[in-house]
Amino acid sequence: MTTDAASTLASRRSFLQFLASSPAMYAAPPILAQSPAELYAPQAISSAADAINVFDFHEVARQVLLPGHYTYMAMGTDDGGTLQANRAGFEQFSLRMRRLVDVREIDLSMELFGEPYPLPILIAPCGSQKAFHPDGEAAVARAARTRGVEQILSTVTSTSVEEVNEARGRPVWFQLYTNPDWEGTQAIVRRAEASGCPVLALTVDLPASNREALARFHRDTNEECLVCHAADAGVIPGKPMYAGTEINRPNTSFMNWDYVERLRDFTSMQLVLKGIVTAEDASLAVERGVDGIIVSNHGGRAENSGRSTIECLPEVVDAVRGRIPVIVDGGFRRGTDIFKALALGADAVAIGRPYLWGLAAFGQEGVETVLDLLARELEIVMKQAGTVRIADIGRGHVA
Ligand SMILES: Cc1cc2nc3c(=O)[nH]c(=O)nc-3n(C[C@H](O)[C@H](O)[C@H](O)COP(=O)(O)O)c2cc1C
Repeated sequence: MTTDAASTLASRRSFLQFLASSPAMYAAPPILAQSPAELYAPQAISSAADAINVFDFHEVARQVLLPGHYTYMAMGTDDGGTLQANRAGFEQFSLRMRRLVDVREIDLSMELFGEPYPLPILIAPCGSQKAFHPDGEAAVARAARTRGVEQILSTVTSTSVEEVNEARGRPVWFQLYTNPDWEGTQAIVRRAEASGCPVLALTVDLPASNREALARFHRDTNEECLVCHAADAGVIPGKPMYAGTEINRPNTSFMNWDYVERLRDFTSMQLVLKGIVTAEDASLAVERGVDGIIVSNHGGRAENSGRSTIECLPEVVDAVRGRIPVIVDGGFRRGTDIFKALALGADAVAIGRPYLWGLAAFGQEGVETVLDLLARELEIVMKQAGTVRIADIGRGHVA
């Protein structure tokens, strides 16, 4: 040991001895490092700008929403098996990174149906958004406008398509829940068309579903729910897209492929099927002249299949063979999740609950920040993978 090193050690030792004998050492509580679980625990933030990732908004949503509304948002079907599978599925794919590419400039833009978008992320259709924030779908539309992303509006929206288009600054895509009442369904489709919606997303994954978590709320007898939901409460104005029709709820179990063709021939909008999860149905969709597919299990709210959408994606992409765009949703919470879907051949992904958490927590700003966080995380992983454009991301990037 050199003389210098020996004297440094000696002085450090005497400093530690001094600390140990100091009364302050006994008075101060020990400072413990956080456990791994604490390190990554989401935080209930007090402003959107404080969010580190989208899960922080979930914490706030849990705290601010009425329990019944939170349950409606969070639940899956049966005991939530598919809901969990959607998240777990991402772990089945790991990333293969390429090195030594100049990644200073990353381009996240993409195109769908000839329309350019700055991000490969869409806003999935979710019903009744005024249950999560008084500005509901209009706040989401304003966020979609500032971030330039596509919004798909639910048939069971709590804000009319005309108001949402106005807030978005241009017509959004419209999601259709059908009904055996063809006259009423035609009226809804015509209304979406007349308001300029370019794309109709027909949801095909809900012929039935078993929603136990919501059933336990007994909305028809629960006093807290009845304040708004009682037939004579007069608080909820009804679903604006059903106005002027005899329809009051989705009823889709009668649908078949002939119906898809009937709708195809009826509307001038591009027809996208939402809820396809197999190669067989993807091939039939292309055969029947459908313009696009959303691989989806309704965010785990349809069947308890145990299969995540990210696992369903490759077979759908293979069957479609690039003939029509493929979008996927279900469990997307991280930039790496989005990257994996793009690598497996999706043209874009859609998000549901994350933007609802943002909406519930901070309205428009919450939704904007959710989109910003996902874009930031996607940009990071694209840099790590040496992919400068979305088109550079391919199957070789996942294992
Ligand atoms: C509260 C809620 C309401 C939804 N409402 C609809 C709807 O009206 N129409 C529809 O096609 N899908 C609906 N979905 C499914 C979403 O469009 C989307 O498929 C799903 O949320 C994606 O999964 P994620 O929430 O894990 O991102 C809803 C989902 C949630 C969470």
